[in-house]
Amino acid sequence: MYKRVRKAVIPAAGLGTRFLPATKALAKEMLPIVDIPTLDYQVNEAVRAGVEEIILIISKAKEDIKKHFSREEEYENYLLSKGKVEEANIIKEIATRAKITYVYQNEMLGLGHAILCTKEAVGNEPFIVILGDDLIINEGGDNVSTQMVKVYNETGASVIGCQEVLPENVSKYGIMALKSELKDRKALLSDMVEKPALEVAPSRLACLGRYLLTPGIFDELENTKPGKGGEIQLTDAIKTLAQKEDVYVYDFIGRRYDVGDKYGFVEATIDFALKRDDMRDKVLNHIKELLNK
Ligand code: UTP
Repeated sequence: MYKRVRKAVIPAAGLGTRFLPATKALAKEMLPIVDIPTLDYQVNEAVRAGVEEIILIISKAKEDIKKHFSREEEYENYLLSKGKVEEANIIKEIATRAKITYVYQNEMLGLGHAILCTKEAVGNEPFIVILGDDLIINEGGDNVSTQMVKVYNETGASVIGCQEVLPENVSKYGIMALKSELKDRKALLSDMVEKPALEVAPSRLACLGRYLLTPGIFDELENTKPGKGGEIQLTDAIKTLAQKEDVYVYDFIGRRYDVGDKYGFVEATIDFALKRDDMRDKVLNHIKELLNK
């Protein structure tokens, strides 16, 4: 039996420059897909995967996130006094469904640095990393974090969540080199190449916002030299970890939206609205009207 995955880390300290001006005063992870902030989806995903504690990485500039997850009984009581029982339950559940703790990243030195800031909070146990702007939905099946926890429970090793991307998108992602072909959607990692040209890419499997890491990653992060822009890259630390212990690549099942990107955000908004009974017909009618113009 391997140590259980009890903790999730959600990095949400980044500046969100792709989404300015909205992100000047608002955390991009709080931008709602219809009426639910992206971060709520990530927290739900972690809870459903069996996680007990969620460590949110934020910065001083992003403390609106803390307000969202704090319990406000006065507000709940006000809603109840107005007969808004469902709304009161919604805001209560947000604040009580999991233990949420905060770690501050005071300098924006990249994702690897953000994860390193959680070393003490995570301790000596495996943890799952859920990127604040990658929304992954697997309707009717296990969510992506649950799928990755299952791979960890079988192997006791770190797992990198991936999917095949279109040839024209290979140069935008960290791309995996595998030791063998995928079997049952997984294979051992041999190398990772950051944003390669298509001609030299070892595969089209891209790392898309989910990592399940053993605590050994912290030693690697501490020894990782800052790269481009002074940033400490998580990819570099995973590469060195893979030289010391098994690291699996896992081709997860689910539809991924990059909601930190304007187009990905609009895609998610339309798809999520179309899935809701209270919105589907209205949105479809609107789209039909647009197409007939
Ligand atoms: P991104 O690179 O997408 O976030 O990081 P960003 O830097 O905010 O984005 P742009 O390019 O400026 O628009 C993926 C996730 O990692 C977090 C971000 O908040 C995001 O959820 N992150 C990134 C940190 O927590 N700290 C960092 O130093 C960098």
